[in-house]
Amino acid sequence: MLVALLPGDGIGPEVIEQTVRVLHAVCGDALTFEEAPVGGAAYKASGHPLPDATLDLAKRADAILFGAVGDPDCDALERRLRPEQAILGLRKELGLFANLRPAKLFAELADASALRPEVAAAIDMVIVRELNGDVYFGEKGMRTTPAGRRQGYDVMSYDEDEVARIARVGFETARARKGRLCSVDKANVLETSQLWRDVVIEISADYPDIALSHMYVDNCAMQLVRNPGQFDVIVTGNLFGDILSDQASMCAGSIGMLPSASLDSAGKGLYEPIHGSAPDIAGQGKANPLATILSAAMMLRYSLNRPADADRIEAAVAKALAGGARSPDLGGALTTAQMGEAVLAAL
Ligand code: NAD
Ligand code: IPM
Ligand code: MN
Repeated sequence: MLVALLPGDGIGPEVIEQTVRVLHAVCGDALTFEEAPVGGAAYKASGHPLPDATLDLAKRADAILFGAVGDPDCDALERRLRPEQAILGLRKELGLFANLRPAKLFAELADASALRPEVAAAIDMVIVRELNGDVYFGEKGMRTTPAGRRQGYDVMSYDEDEVARIARVGFETARARKGRLCSVDKANVLETSQLWRDVVIEISADYPDIALSHMYVDNCAMQLVRNPGQFDVIVTGNLFGDILSDQASMCAGSIGMLPSASLDSAGKGLYEPIHGSAPDIAGQGKANPLATILSAAMMLRYSLNRPADADRIEAAVAKALAGGARSPDLGGALTTAQMGEAVLAAL
């Protein structure tokens, strides 16, 4: 099976390196890796953040393991050339509309959570984030108002089919877990959200066994801190899901802990940590690689049909944490490579 490795920028290559060591140890020769540049690194090498050869590799591969993109040197480029366009382009070109972001507190990390340990203890949720639509992909631009003032705009929209297909992923995810789905929107203000809510309710007719609730996104942000244990599965749009998952990560200990799977309708997937390229710590060996290692476990489970290997990696991460492995974001002093070695030792 061919895995496309797209390390990207900043800490991306650092966390990918440790993840590949773990995959070698667990899967041996069963996986073949082929690497390609993406993001700012690709722009600097060839003038485009998502070169054709990189996109071709992503299409050819059985699964994609992605680090992170983003480079402060590129922030002044026109938008289509910025590193972030690479991940947005991959998600869109490959039809990866369903982004699963599990947030759970490893018991050993109760002290790393930003919440009191007794509040954090119950965190075990999956945020199902729509990834191909919303304000991310609507018409956008800069224009001048009649009064001669600069105006930026980004159109938010969803059509009913886009909502229906992600709603089904939310219901199915809840069915495989504790049977509770919370749909998060802003239907009190946004037409896009009113359609979202209406369609989620329509689809719920096919899932009478699932307990469906609705919550406004502002309340959800508050509830994630007040009582995160109430959530089983959250289904939400692209922008709200982006923001809420960063927040959930810190409730569960660190942004360096949260993996993700971005799936199409046929099982093809891109796997990446939810964090970015972290320019503030890049090159210093301070990045926590566990989010990427846990993303590789999701890859083995969802795209490569190796659930036992996925279980082994997740168990090794838990064991490493139980043994005291802590990078700086978790309050410790281990380097990125030492965190990788702790997982290898646990294996
Ligand atoms: P970020 O997630 O890169 O970093 C936010 C904070 O969390 C920083 O203080 C960073 O040091 C810390 N952090 C992140 N990952 C960590 C890890 N594994 N271990 C320890 N600490 C970690 O977000 P940002 O600073 O807002 O964005 C930086 C760049 O990354 C931007 O260019 C942004 O567009 C990009 N970005 C890319 C992705 C992606 O590739 N999918 C995701 C988010 C942000
Ligand atoms: C993420 C990131 C991306 C997003 C950016 C880099 C385009 O924040 O993967 O969470 O907003 O989706
Ligand atoms: Mn994000």
